[in-house]
Amino acid sequence: MQVLETVTDIRAAISTERKAGKSVAFVPTMGNLHEGHLQLVRLARQHCDVVVVSIFVNPLQFGLNEDWEQYPRTFEPDCKKLEAEQTDFLFYPSETEMYPNGQATQTKVEVAVMADILCGASRPGHFLGVTTVVSKLFNMVLPDVAIFGIKDYQQLAIIRRMSEDMAFPIEIIAAPIARDEDGLALSSRNAYLTEAERPTANALYKTLCHARQAILDGNRDYSSVEKEARQQLENAGMRPDYFSVIEQKTLDPATPADTEIAILGAVFLGNTRLIDNVTLTL
Ligand code: PAJ
Repeated sequence: MQVLETVTDIRAAISTERKAGKSVAFVPTMGNLHEGHLQLVRLARQHCDVVVVSIFVNPLQFGLNEDWEQYPRTFEPDCKKLEAEQTDFLFYPSETEMYPNGQATQTKVEVAVMADILCGASRPGHFLGVTTVVSKLFNMVLPDVAIFGIKDYQQLAIIRRMSEDMAFPIEIIAAPIARDEDGLALSSRNAYLTEAERPTANALYKTLCHARQAILDGNRDYSSVEKEARQQLENAGMRPDYFSVIEQKTLDPATPADTEIAILGAVFLGNTRLIDNVTLTL
């Protein structure tokens, strides 16, 4: 695996691969890699000849009171994991390489409306930071396909929308959610959970599954499904941020006429913010 730190170097490497007729898959990450990330890398390999992973803890997508400084940076073990997956290139830009003119004056790519609801409502500016860095990464790596996890459902929907609107010639591929044995979705932020919190952390997934079953059983009163779920989360010692039954593509609140449904939840367990989701087709 070659580690490349500059735009010039990644462009040159990818250009050589392209001239050799190779297709390129890209997996953007913030590092601290776990099995969920590695599944994305394996999916990338299935789609293309060359696999590029990026690690960049993007300051632009963290709020002022969020965990940018505390976010786990584990470069050496990450490299070992990526080498074991036969990753071809790791793009590892510095902050000045990503934002040569500074963050404050960075040109931004904004997806309207979808970025301001759900996680966007409690993390103002978060998705603006995500869409800006992902569009920059797309332009730096110039891949044929890019892989994103369904774990971050809203992020995936927003990036699909951004790619469509900006006419990026890149196929966006969704990867299933990797979970621990008890159902907790794998996340770098799970490391923040205390020993006492960890056994109850799967209550979010359990509540999502319960809500899905209620809908499959015929309940179309989605606000009552949401209300009951919020109560269940509180009973499990969590502080719900939102719990929403939505239409899959638009992220609008689902109506009884919708057939492609997603249920998205975000909670605080102690100081840790957890998100998860399930989907269903009626
Ligand atoms: P990060 O949180 O590192 O996640 C990188 C990719 O891994 C995302 O597409 C995310 O959805 C996926 N992922 C994380 N946990 C997963 C799980 N349990 N199962 C499946 N996929 C999972 O998401 C980001 O970084 C950043 O916002 C980024 C897109 C890199 C832009 O900075």
